[in-house]
Amino acid sequence: MKIVVIQGPNLNMLGKREQHIYGPMTLEQIHEQMKSFAEQNNIEIEFFQSNLEGEIVDRIQECMGDAQGVIINPAAYSHTSIAIRDAIAASQIPAIEVHLTNIHAREEFRRHSITAEVCAGVVAGMGAFGYHLGMVGMVQVMNEIAESAKQQAQVQEK
Ligand code: DQA
Repeated sequence: MKIVVIQGPNLNMLGKREQHIYGPMTLEQIHEQMKSFAEQNNIEIEFFQSNLEGEIVDRIQECMGDAQGVIINPAAYSHTSIAIRDAIAASQIPAIEVHLTNIHAREEFRRHSITAEVCAGVVAGMGAFGYHLGMVGMVQVMNEIAESAKQQAQVQEK
């Protein structure tokens, strides 16, 4: 089972960037924690960060036929990018969107996520721990998909 973690613009600045809003952890530290959870659960994991919309679209497309799940924080693009939304939808790979902050309690322009609408689930407002919750959620989603595929195969056998 392989999960790709995709991080959007300015998330490379975590740890330096508005710590009172986004917390003290760096992206590297967050990824280290995700890596150890992945190792403990036999999950292959890859990380990608870009400040460029097109690169994020490319990375989502590359997941097709390669990864079984995507954890994505599209950052500011959550509120603006139809291209990233379309890429998630086209990939048909279950995605969980993570936001460090509770976007629903922030400025009006952050309260709506275009990309979340095509995701299997969303975690928001739990800080860096939200990425861990996203991983746990992804394992659950994958188990459900595997279970329903098994049931379908059994029905077809009968
Ligand atoms: C964010 C929320 C976005 O509104 C913002 O542009 C970000 C980070 C979050 O993780 O809380 O860069 O996605």
